[in-house]
Amino acid sequence: MELSQDPLFSSTRWWGKETRAIVTGGNRGIGLAMVKRLAELGVTVILTARDANKGKQALEMLRNEGLANYIHFSILDVSDPHSISLFASWFNNNFGLLDILVNNAAVSYNGIYENSVKNAEIVINTNFYGPKLLIEALLPFFRCSSTYKSRILNFTSRLGLLHNVENKEVRAILEDEENLSEEKIEGVIRLFLKQVKEGKWEKEGWPKAWTDYAVSKLALNAYSKILATRLRDSNISVNCFCPGFTQTGMTGGKGSRTAEIAANIGAQLALLPPQFLQTGKFTMGQNLFLHSRF
Ligand SMILES: NC(=O)c1ccc[n+]([C@@H]2O[C@H](COP(=O)([O-])OP(=O)(O)OC[C@H]3O[C@@H](n4cnc5c(N)ncnc54)[C@H](OP(=O)(O)O)[C@@H]3O)[C@@H](O)[C@H]2O)c1
Repeated sequence: MELSQDPLFSSTRWWGKETRAIVTGGNRGIGLAMVKRLAELGVTVILTARDANKGKQALEMLRNEGLANYIHFSILDVSDPHSISLFASWFNNNFGLLDILVNNAAVSYNGIYENSVKNAEIVINTNFYGPKLLIEALLPFFRCSSTYKSRILNFTSRLGLLHNVENKEVRAILEDEENLSEEKIEGVIRLFLKQVKEGKWEKEGWPKAWTDYAVSKLALNAYSKILATRLRDSNISVNCFCPGFTQTGMTGGKGSRTAEIAANIGAQLALLPPQFLQTGKFTMGQNLFLHSRF
C-alpha cells in the first residue's frame, strides 16, 4: 500500500522535499532500498557510502529511475572518525539542517552458520562506534522541530537482544537502565574484545550466533536506549529496527524477505507521524508497533 493511502499516514504527511535524511551504507542492500524508498516518498536523501565509485554508481542508478532531484551523494566510512568529521563539515556546508539519520551501515564476516571472531574489532568499530560517533558529530544539525521531531533510526538486530546474553554480570550491567552509561557499555565491549584476544570468549556467556556482530548490536541497542533518554526533551527520537532475515550480501542472498520489503517498513518507521512516534523502542520485522525489550 502507498503510504499516502495508509490511514496512518494519509492526513499526516509531515515531510516534504525540505525534509533531509542521511542513510549510511546506501550503496547496496537494505541501505540502497531505504534511500530509494525515502526519495520515492519525496524526502531529500543523502546517500552515503565508504567507496566513492560504488556510491556514485548507486546514485546514477537511482537518478536513472527518475529520483535525481531527491538524492545527493557523499563519501562516508563510518569506521573512520576522520571520515565522519569530514562528512559532518560537508553536510553542514551543503545542507545545515537534518531531520532523519538512518544508521544502516554494518559488517559481518561470517557465513550464515559460521561463528568466527577473527574480525571482532572491525565489526565493533563499524557497527557500534561508527553509528555512535556519527550521531555525536551530527547532533548539532538536527532540526529539532517540536511539531515534527527529528529522528534517529539505528538498524540493529534481534541477535543483539539481551535475552541472548547468558553472562550474568554483563546482563546485570545492561539491564540496569537507571545506572547504564556510555562508560559501562564501552566497558562491556572492552571485556568482550579482551576475552577474544585471550581466546576465552566462547565460555563466557556471550550471544551464541554471530557473536562479534551480536555484541556490536547489543552495544548499539544499549547506547540507543540511553541516548533516547538523554534526548527526550530535545525533540529527537531514537529507535532501533531489526529488519528480520533479509536477502542481502550480509546473508549471502538468503532470507525470508527482500531488501525492498525490509526498507519499506524502515521508511515507514522513519516517517511515522509525530503523534505515533515513540522513542527508545526496538521494532522487529514487519509490524511498526511490535516492540521488544532491547
Ligand atoms: N540482512 C539481514 O538479514 C539483516 C538482519 C538484521 C539486521 N540487519 C541490519 O540491516 C543493516 C543493513 O544490512 P544489509 O543486510 O543491507 O547488509 P549489506 O548488504 O552487507 O550492506 C551493508 C552496507 O554497509 C556498508 N558498510 C560496511 N562497512 C561500512 C563502513 N565502514 N562505512 C560505511 N558503509 C559501510 C556496505 O558498503 P560496501 O558495499 O562498501 O561493503 C553496504 O553498503 C545492517 O545494519 C544489518 O546489521 C540485516
